[in-house]
Amino acid sequence: MTATASPRRVLTGITTTGTPHLGNYVGSIRAAVRASHEPGVQSFYFLADYHALIKCDEPARIQRSTLEIAASWLAAGLDPEHVTFYRQSDIPEIPELTWLLTCVTGKGLLNRAHAYKAMLDKNQAAGAEPDDGVTAGLFMYPVLMAADILMFRAHQVPVGRDQVQHIEMARDIAASYNHLYGEHLVQPAALIDDNVALLPGLDGRKMSKSYDNTIALFGPREQLRKQIMSIVTDSRAPGEPKDTEGSALYAIFRAFADDAEAAAFARAFADGIAWGDAKQQLFERIEHEIGPMRARYEHLMAHPEEVEAILRAGARKARAIATPFLRTLREAVGLRALQAAPQQAVTQPAGARKMALPSFKQYREPDGLFYFKLADASGAVLLQSTGFASPRDAGEAIKRLQTEGAAALDALRACLAAPAQADWPAVERALEQLRQAAATA
Ligand code: TRP
Repeated sequence: MTATASPRRVLTGITTTGTPHLGNYVGSIRAAVRASHEPGVQSFYFLADYHALIKCDEPARIQRSTLEIAASWLAAGLDPEHVTFYRQSDIPEIPELTWLLTCVTGKGLLNRAHAYKAMLDKNQAAGAEPDDGVTAGLFMYPVLMAADILMFRAHQVPVGRDQVQHIEMARDIAASYNHLYGEHLVQPAALIDDNVALLPGLDGRKMSKSYDNTIALFGPREQLRKQIMSIVTDSRAPGEPKDTEGSALYAIFRAFADDAEAAAFARAFADGIAWGDAKQQLFERIEHEIGPMRARYEHLMAHPEEVEAILRAGARKARAIATPFLRTLREAVGLRALQAAPQQAVTQPAGARKMALPSFKQYREPDGLFYFKLADASGAVLLQSTGFASPRDAGEAIKRLQTEGAAALDALRACLAAPAQADWPAVERALEQLRQAAATA
């Protein structure tokens, strides 16, 4: 095995309470599926069913929505071989990490969450108790979300603007943990795509389940046609020029069309196309994109066992990362075997506490060449070099890894080997620890 570049990790979750509509497709599914094919990106998509429990107490709906969302993403082209696609509740490490994070999260931080504050305001306006109807689940929502993100050391989290505060909280929570227990957690950044269209719904307001103005993504073809025919327009007659500005019909078309198609549609508006004809064109344009995916969606909905198998395979992939990482995180806080050597002196003043560090060792083999290996704090070998002609060359490679961290892995690929089944995340973590230590020394 040779070292590979450390890829950018992108992760996002979808709460399993609803049925995907066209707005979800344009706003997240389509962009995510495209992004997942970009080279150098490692994508994690998951069904946030623990989050769903916070909002929904109907078991059948949770189950149905999980199937519908999974089938929609797969039908839209998500390749589960290429990405890690899993169900949150299949990863027992998530609630376990949630607890570790809960213990480093200030209650005051959670008090400031927008969703929680909105409940307090609503209750105050209604003259009710401040916490009326607030479950501890709602209050803890940001910690669970931080666990989702931090577990996979995601660099970027594509979300809507309403979720940005949660990503900031995940950063704060990661910083608290790292401050106390060493640099284990990666600080994520929110990724907001301003090019993604906010799709209007049937009545011209933002398409949303709460306005009951949605167009189903994978309903039967005839339902799609009917829903499009019911989009609200003004009362201009055929032959009268029509405005694209402020037209929901045009905006939805725009979200599916390329520039040339959109320009032609705008010309038809100026030329006075009848609303019925414009709707028919919109239907055909959407059907052109969605139609070919529908058969796959219907197949998956009829075969939930196939979706189940895909999600379980995804969970195995996810847990291959989560299980060893959680072990590290547990050990770092002191949940570890009693015979294990304590890694930090409790007497050290806070702030000056030091983690035991991974280390490089240089050595010479009978072949006359110079080698090095990287071992973690407990001495387990994480990485081995190939042979260098001189000790200076080996030393230089070490120096780069120490100062540049995981970023240097790519450049040094040719002179690195690793023990069978190398734990690359552990290698990255070790290098990151060393880099930080070098930077603060
Ligand atoms: N809270 C997100 C939403 O409502 C869903 C979600 C849960 C999520 N966990 C996540 C999104 C982790 C990104 C990362 O949209």
